[in-house]
Amino acid sequence: MRFTFLATIVGLAVGALAQSSAADAYVASEGPIAKTGVIANIGSSGSKSHGAKASASPSTSNPDYLYSWTRDSALVFKALIDQFTSGEDTTLRNLIDDYTTSSGRLQQVSNPSGTVSTGGLGEPKFNIDESAFTGAWGRPQRDGPALRATAIITYANWLLDNSNSTYVTQTLWPIIKLDLDYVQNNWNQTGFDLWEEVNSSSFFTTAVQHRALREGATFAARIGQTSVVSGYTTQAANVLCFLQSYWNPSAGYITANTGGGRSGKDSNTVLTSVHTFDPAAGCDASTFQPCSDKALSNLKVYVDSFRSIYAINSGIAANAAVATGRYPEDSYQGGNPWYLTTIAVSEQLYDALIVWDKLGSINVTAVSLPFFQQFSSSVAVGTYASSSATYTTLTTAIRTFADGFIAVNAKYTPANGGLAEQYDRASGAPVSAVDLTWSYAATLTAFHARGGKTYASWGAAGLAVPATCSTSGSGSSGGAGTVAVTFNVQATTVYGENIYITGSVDALQNWSPDNALILSAANYPTWSITVNLPATTAVQYKFIRKYNGATTWESDPNNQITTPASGSATQADTWR
Ligand SMILES: *[C@@H]1O[C@H](CO)[C@@H](O)[C@H](O)[C@H]1NC(C)=O
Ligand SMILES: *[C@@H]1O[C@H](CO)[C@@H](O)[C@H](O)[C@H]1NC(C)=O
Ligand SMILES: *[C@@H]1O[C@H](CO)[C@@H](O)[C@H](O)[C@H]1NC(C)=O
Ligand SMILES: *[C@@H]1O[C@H](CO)[C@@H](O)[C@H](O)[C@H]1NC(C)=O
Repeated sequence: MRFTFLATIVGLAVGALAQSSAADAYVASEGPIAKTGVIANIGSSGSKSHGAKASASPSTSNPDYLYSWTRDSALVFKALIDQFTSGEDTTLRNLIDDYTTSSGRLQQVSNPSGTVSTGGLGEPKFNIDESAFTGAWGRPQRDGPALRATAIITYANWLLDNSNSTYVTQTLWPIIKLDLDYVQNNWNQTGFDLWEEVNSSSFFTTAVQHRALREGATFAARIGQTSVVSGYTTQAANVLCFLQSYWNPSAGYITANTGGGRSGKDSNTVLTSVHTFDPAAGCDASTFQPCSDKALSNLKVYVDSFRSIYAINSGIAANAAVATGRYPEDSYQGGNPWYLTTIAVSEQLYDALIVWDKLGSINVTAVSLPFFQQFSSSVAVGTYASSSATYTTLTTAIRTFADGFIAVNAKYTPANGGLAEQYDRASGAPVSAVDLTWSYAATLTAFHARGGKTYASWGAAGLAVPATCSTSGSGSSGGAGTVAVTFNVQATTVYGENIYITGSVDALQNWSPDNALILSAANYPTWSITVNLPATTAVQYKFIRKYNGATTWESDPNNQITTPASGSATQADTWR
């Protein structure tokens, strides 16, 4: 007995050292490659991007990924904006400015999902010359506007801290507001998930929408845009309520999508914990923080679902790290482990370790017990202070476990450090798109978390989940009793000048020049926008122009339209 016990301890210790030194070595070698890999794929000077603004990968065949995805771009730029605003890399400002400027233009591009005011913000991807992608695709995808708002708000808060409020209110706020309004009005509609396959409601999408509305409300208040605060806050509470419904209590995991006909075990949920991590929110379970009992239980179920299906995972102990993929039923490119999903597991665990260290204790609940039993078969439900032996046992083993996922990716990274999308489930050889921007970005953020770095809080602490879920106030665009009115106005402008509309009803922002709706110049000199207005209503409106911080109204009198009872209408005006 004694001999076996000692052998086990020695075996564990040797294994732990191996995992951690493999992770240390990979952080040192892969960190610079990942950073270079991200930068090469973005911006007009990116060496592999062929003039792209932020392409997913330079791959142009099998698969063709040389497009700009709203989600991928936002996730990648959020990571870069965190590096810039925290002072880790002060050289990134021009790239970030290119991203926000490009975002403002892309919002105005009419596409198969609609125009800027009729659902076009939900379009998932664009050609890299910023024109619409018109082929068949899984659209809309409603996480993009939320993620983009989160990324730009993070940058805007830094600009405010650094006395540049004019640029924030004049240039960034109109972009942020379009995205937040889209989330406010559309969160309760179905759309395609982050893997672009399932058309339903999706946990990742709902969670990032919640985050965007919360920080959007705080940000709007900070810059004095108080008229939007209560709308965003009301819908944030509604979204948080809906978010709880994805939890499957009997099986102990988060069901990734309401549709799709799969188990629902999906990296979607792990990525959510990582991308909605708030270091100030403790182990809050209602927002599924990385150290919450629900997110930890979910992590175990998710990881375990890949142990027996990938040949490269065979022979690995049931409590050690393995390669993981998007979801166990995946068959895309053969259905393989992905670099970004495997390393996301480690990032969730590093985030959890950061918070336990900060709080000075670990709570083991009935929900998280199976997760913790992987690291100590005798652990029981209870609170373990950082001074206890159990705390040390658990946190040491969990760090080794986390390092193990990095070691798995390290093992299947080719000698030149290039990260494709996937690696083969049987041979471990790289598969699918080469130099995937998101693979590099996910590697960078996991390394940062391993180093104990955290970024700004977004307001997840202490939120109350409403007792009953409501949808009231959402869905105001395209709802019953409205008609789609297209306003076309002939107006010549100078470069950098834009035309807006405001008027006598909510949908036209109640005569507010600050909140006026921007028109599209896609058919310049005709500026155009389609807005859902109340049916059978006399509506007054005016166009305004904004240039270099100055606002100019059309001369009197107001324009007027009486909307039809149903259908649509078009107004043709010339700037006065
Ligand atoms: C504010 O920030 C923008 C974006 O980086 C920059 O173009 C502008 O020059 C800045 N303005 C001031 C006054 O610093
Ligand atoms: C809309 O919200 C309600 C209330 O939370 C929820 O029951 C319903 O599933 C949601 N639908 C979508 C498509 O999000
Ligand atoms: C997605 O699902 C919704 C609701 O079931 C449906 O109205 C819509 O047509 C579907 N979209 C596609 C592209 O299948
Ligand atoms: C443990 O639970 C208590 C009571 O619910 C809570 O105050 C504390 O923050 C929790 N600590 C951790 C590390 O989750």
